[in-house]
Amino acid sequence: MAGVLIQNMSFKVGQTLTITGVPKPDSTNFAINIGHSPEDIALHMNPRFDAHGDQCTIVCNSFQSGSWCEEHRDNNFPFIQDKEFQIKITFTNEEFLVTLPDGSEIHFPNRQGSEKYKYMHFEGEVRIQGVEIK
Ligand code: GAL
Repeated sequence: MAGVLIQNMSFKVGQTLTITGVPKPDSTNFAINIGHSPEDIALHMNPRFDAHGDQCTIVCNSFQSGSWCEEHRDNNFPFIQDKEFQIKITFTNEEFLVTLPDGSEIHFPNRQGSEKYKYMHFEGEVRIQGVEIK
């Protein structure tokens, strides 16, 4: 599997996950996936510079029972190719709260309602520099 895979590192309700990274200079998109396994993703957060027919759009979704669920889309796009970003994610059993590099927020439902996720996968055209859970 390409990208950065973190398994058995628990991310629990109330904790904050901080991800630091740099999109490649020619990045089309990258994604942050949090869940239980590759087949069970509670939060897929996919900033698209230019991918899947979208320009400068953040697409969030979950992947359950073999398929993508309902997308949440955001046109606020505070990412720049080749420029370092920091994303903070926290969650309750009802929703994920993603704080973007400009301080704006995305609220995405925690559809499974789990209180702990142990699978994280960072994929696409990005260099991940730091992952911290506090
Ligand atoms: C699809 C794309 C997936 C994922 C999904 C999110 O079009 O192929 O990688 O981003 O959208 O809904």
